[in-house]
Amino acid sequence: MSPLHITRTLPEDATEAALRADVLRGLTATPKWLPPKWFYDARGSELFERITELPEYYPTRAEREILATRSGEIAAASGARTLVELGSGSSEKTRHLIDALPSLAAYVPVDVSESALTQAGRALVEERPGLDVHALIADFTAPLTLPATPGPRLLAFLGGTIGNLLPAERARFLASVRALLAPGDGLLLGTDLVKDEGMLVRAYDDAAGVTAAFNRNVLAVIDRELGADFDPEAFDHVALWDAGQEWIEMRLRSRTAQTVKVPALNLAVDFAAGEELRTEVSAKFRKEGVTAELAAAGLELTHWWTDAAGRFALSLSVL
Ligand code: AVJ
Repeated sequence: MSPLHITRTLPEDATEAALRADVLRGLTATPKWLPPKWFYDARGSELFERITELPEYYPTRAEREILATRSGEIAAASGARTLVELGSGSSEKTRHLIDALPSLAAYVPVDVSESALTQAGRALVEERPGLDVHALIADFTAPLTLPATPGPRLLAFLGGTIGNLLPAERARFLASVRALLAPGDGLLLGTDLVKDEGMLVRAYDDAAGVTAAFNRNVLAVIDRELGADFDPEAFDHVALWDAGQEWIEMRLRSRTAQTVKVPALNLAVDFAAGEELRTEVSAKFRKEGVTAELAAAGLELTHWWTDAAGRFALSLSVL
């Protein structure tokens, strides 16, 4: 059987230090905010998997449709021998791409979740003998060193996760991705598209309340990791469309005036009744905006595919 390598570039204690710094910064700011990356502990990842199956949450199905129907075209345009996937998670949708790339020699999934990487990596190594799977435990928003695998490389960043970065973070991220690419390499980027407000808001405020539970889970993460005494049920889930920024915002609204203690930070945080804490931005895109953001990073949009209903797009930039 071909090898499964796992490389950790993230020190074991880096996660807690980063969480403390983010919580201190966000909960002492006005208005209060938290970065969305802290949703994804084991329970949060499981809730996210359930979100992807909700009738209202179309992005996963729309992107899967594009990958299922266009993998051949993507493979032909890229000719990749190495596929790097940032934020790979379960690598489920990527199978289409891997299957369509017959000359693929290496798959490099990059994720902060070691368990997701190990599971997905083991399955792949069994299914594709000869494929070198080199998993990286890393935070894709930090500088990345890729293993020495054959080119050309195709770097995939799927799921619309780029929309969870703020515009300045996106610019920095795309510039760092561009710096990883050599002539012949490509970037495959998944972006959710601007559409009817009702459809967008329903995708982030589902009838079964799974997204509400996912949103509140970030408070449970802070309770567990930093000894805080948030009562997640003392906050209401809020999802709203910001038409100016063209992004969905998720917030948690304090039901009452309350003070929350965060012992690990020696911090007491006051919430007024109705005060909102921003937990996620999920930007939606137009083709012109994606083209311009790629161009600003030195990348040219060479291909653009959407699902039949035009809800989601995959773009490819080949250098
Ligand atoms: C991580 C980008 C796929 O912003 O749509 C789902 C996370 N948040 N429901 C998104 C999420 C609320 C999601 N992605």
